[in-house]
Amino acid sequence: MAGTIDLGKADAGWAALAALPRPTLAALFAEAGRVEGYSTDLALPGGTIRFDLSKTHLDAAVEAALIDIAEAMQFDALRAALFAGEVVNPSEGRAAEHIAQRGIGKDASVEEAARFHERMRALVEAIHEGVLGDVKSLIHIGIGGSALGPALAIDALARKNSKVAVHVVSNIDGCALEAAFAQCDPATTLIAVASKTFTTTETILNANSAIEWLLDAGIADPGGRVIALTAAPDKAVEWGVDETRVLPFQESVGGRYSLWSSIGFPVAMALGWQGFAEFLDGAAAIDRHFADTPLAENVCVRAAFSDLYYTQARGCQTRACFAYDERLKLLPSYLQQLEMESNGKSVRADGTPLGRPSAPVTWGGVGTDAQHAVFQLLHQGTHLIPVDFIAAIMPGDDLDTAHHVGLLSNCFAQGAALMAGRASTDGNRNYPGDRPSATILCEALNPATLGALIAFHEHRTFANAAMLGINPFDQFGVELGKDIARSIGQAGVDFDASTTALLEAAGLA
Ligand code: F6P
Repeated sequence: MAGTIDLGKADAGWAALAALPRPTLAALFAEAGRVEGYSTDLALPGGTIRFDLSKTHLDAAVEAALIDIAEAMQFDALRAALFAGEVVNPSEGRAAEHIAQRGIGKDASVEEAARFHERMRALVEAIHEGVLGDVKSLIHIGIGGSALGPALAIDALARKNSKVAVHVVSNIDGCALEAAFAQCDPATTLIAVASKTFTTTETILNANSAIEWLLDAGIADPGGRVIALTAAPDKAVEWGVDETRVLPFQESVGGRYSLWSSIGFPVAMALGWQGFAEFLDGAAAIDRHFADTPLAENVCVRAAFSDLYYTQARGCQTRACFAYDERLKLLPSYLQQLEMESNGKSVRADGTPLGRPSAPVTWGGVGTDAQHAVFQLLHQGTHLIPVDFIAAIMPGDDLDTAHHVGLLSNCFAQGAALMAGRASTDGNRNYPGDRPSATILCEALNPATLGALIAFHEHRTFANAAMLGINPFDQFGVELGKDIARSIGQAGVDFDASTTALLEAAGLA
């Protein structure tokens, strides 16, 4: 990475940001051109997406202060390093090449990703043509980044006309796998084992139990029904998957960024290859926007600026995302891993203390359901919570248009209500207003726009990290709990009194 980060200048920038005047949203809307200045319509392969940040407290002074910090943090150089396939994950000495899956980045990586995609395409099309017999169901076994993306994409895009019924199973709790078994006929079911490392306890145990299930049903060659999706092909072969059914991807693709690689196999199985290719194209369009657009007009950067303004200058500890689209109900869970596993750190990339808040807690739900459960706190609670609303203009259902009109009306009404509030002399009935929201409005939800939405959030997460000097591509915080779980039951391992008592109560000690 060229240039040196100037932490002193960045710290001064954060202090300046916090000291800026705080005009209300009403005051910002009194200025001419507020909506135009803070909304961007991006024309993308699957249709236009509007990113409307006008109901946030971003203004010229806030953005100028954040651009100064970006300069101090060498934002442009770091972004260029990401797209050049340079090491941007220093703690693991790796590049982060999810973008290469979308055809952008270092030539050798883009070519390798394309070769892996060709291999995956050949297998997907062969299965669709019947080479593995009649396939009606696919049980996709994986966890974290090896499950959340496929689950989201399939739920969003393959509710109707799916070429195969996909069941995503992640939890080590056998109830999860049993639920999938109950919906599948072993004779017409394939098993996809998705694991970057091919060592993850939950996934390997679930995969072993799936083999048992096939055996118990009298399937002669259960191993022949398994496809492995992994960056560790040797381990998959060692476990028992035939080399011809191992779909590799690159080590430089992070788990929570891996949906674009062979981890997307179930998505291609459900949609067909063309749909998966459109998904990649939508993401690539956002890659080009993020790579080539100046910070002040860059939707990924401006969304990150809004995140940073609220966490760094306004003390917000959470951000919420509400999908006003049933098909996107898994988006908040997906974003939780993307944002919290990437940026939930207390140190900078060089291991020195961050000394300021890092990622907010990401949470959310689906509208209109969430309105009747958690919105009370958004409107009248003591927390200031920036909210994203995500919706599509085209309905996903074929019912009376009243459904979709009601859905969108509610979505827009919530943003308006949060901003405007309603004054009352009765404290119980007073809505203070001035509460921020952003609205991401897709012309339609389809493979390309979903790809774009996810890539937008990936780059927003990267931009947040770059501004703080965090490495968003490692996740050492998840290791300690795994180590301790592995040590349970081993001789000579002592725990605190509470844990020992719990282990005894459950018969595990
Ligand atoms: O424990 C966290 C994690 O490493 C995630 O980052 C990852 O997505 C998940 O586990 C699954 O890992 P794997 O794909 O190697 O099974």
